[in-house]
Amino acid sequence: MLLPWLVLLVWGAASADLQETEGAEQEVQFDERELRRILQLSPLGEPPLDATNRFDGNPQAERLGHALFFDAGLSVNGEISCATCHDPKQGFSDGKPVADTLEPGKRRTPALWNAAYGHWYFHDGRAATLWSQALDPIEDEAEMGGDRLAVLHHIAQDEPLRRAFEQLRGPLPELENSEDFPAHARPVPDEPEHPHARAWAKMSEENRESVNRAFTDVGKMIAAYERRLVSRDSAFDRFVTGLREQDQELRRALSPSAQRGLRLFLGKGRCRLCHNGPNFSDGEFHGLGLATRAGGMPTDSGRYGGVPGLLEREFTASGPYSDAPLGERARQLEGLRVGPENWGEFKTPSLRNVGERAPYMHAGQFADLESVLNFYSTLEGAAPLHQHQEQVLTARDFTPQEIADLVAFLLSLQGAAIDSAWTGPPGSSRDLPTDVPKQHDR
Ligand code: HEC
Ligand code: HEC
Repeated sequence: MLLPWLVLLVWGAASADLQETEGAEQEVQFDERELRRILQLSPLGEPPLDATNRFDGNPQAERLGHALFFDAGLSVNGEISCATCHDPKQGFSDGKPVADTLEPGKRRTPALWNAAYGHWYFHDGRAATLWSQALDPIEDEAEMGGDRLAVLHHIAQDEPLRRAFEQLRGPLPELENSEDFPAHARPVPDEPEHPHARAWAKMSEENRESVNRAFTDVGKMIAAYERRLVSRDSAFDRFVTGLREQDQELRRALSPSAQRGLRLFLGKGRCRLCHNGPNFSDGEFHGLGLATRAGGMPTDSGRYGGVPGLLEREFTASGPYSDAPLGERARQLEGLRVGPENWGEFKTPSLRNVGERAPYMHAGQFADLESVLNFYSTLEGAAPLHQHQEQVLTARDFTPQEIADLVAFLLSLQGAAIDSAWTGPPGSSRDLPTDVPKQHDR
């Protein structure tokens, strides 16, 4: 007696399943408003040139910066380079929740893809140029533990490196003179009795300035290299070309699931309100109220501490070592203010190449993209940061299918591979440019 019922039930369930998957695999028909929004997200043009860096876009500087990026000789123990934490094999990050070399840090190592499109650097935006950003980790006691004098001595003692460096920017200071140019020195504002700080204080102002000029040039060459790290021409970009040119073949670059994810990204998910434009970031700061990794109340002040950090910086877009002290980047520093509403805000990261760089958020709070989307779905654990809590940030209440679709869309933002010469360590130092015309200091 029971058997026919059971057969019917099983049959019914199976055919419902079938219908659902068939329906689910249909292409999405985007309406006009969605199409307009999609076209704003692609293509991504060339990264802008930074006028504060006279080496930006200079091919010789890019190659030399590449060598410096991978050069562990810039660190205190000869073992740590930029690439130790920003490892090209891990999406120019390190796979760790927070960086950890000489001492554990408190923030995650951000990926460097498309950094040149930004105008604030670090999670809290305490640098406004890529070249000045690059100088911090070199002298940070937790990261590379080096100092500017040691960096210049290192360059001077590596013959091909020295030749290439001097041909590009003019002669190094007279470092052989150890009276005037000690082996180690740097300003240590919090610790004036630090041996490095005392050595720095003993140097003449003129010599300190020539050291700073050469040291900032190191940062500028590294920044020129970083401008090569561009992620674009992803499956998503091919899909948009398909929409633009009404090319069915290209439109298939996105699976139906990723297309549904795109629709959610523009609509229900509200993701585009912050992750907007072809780099999928507004380049600004927002408070998500994320709990710490251990689950407690947020402790990192983010942008609230970043703005004073920016205004106190030694090397800035508007300062004497900038190549455009009155330019646009300098002007963005004017009138910069910070208030309690900025407490706990962090920079919106680009979502290009996001699939290859778990864990996520400024302290690696989430192990994978599903967890990130679960957060946006429920806002579980989020602390209300202030009265103006991001109005747009309310629980999005996604179904498991919607989360899977959003993840499929995010994974479609993986860019085409760039020339592998830029993502590996540089060849032998003989590859360094030596036959370049001189380009002296201003
Ligand atoms: C110890 C690991 C470590 C080393 C070594 C390191 N970084 Fe980083 N990098 C980080 C961390 C962590 C942050 C974020 C810190 C913060 O926001 O306070 C960061 C931030 C950055 C950013 C900002 C990215 C953005 O989107 O805002 C750039 C660019 C960068 N590093 C480049 C470099 C360069 C160039 C070097 C070598 C001179 C270097 N880093 C060395 C860990 C490291
Ligand atoms: C209110 C602005 C805002 C909205 C809306 C928003 N985001 Fe974000 N998103 C951010 C900020 C800010 C961060 C970085 C937070 C941090 O580091 O603590 C971030 C981080 C992320 C990350 C982690 C990236 C990384 O490298 O760590 C992903 C993935 C992401 N968002 C996807 C989305 C998706 C998908 C949506 C829509 C469901 C969305 N975001 C909506 C501002 C926003």
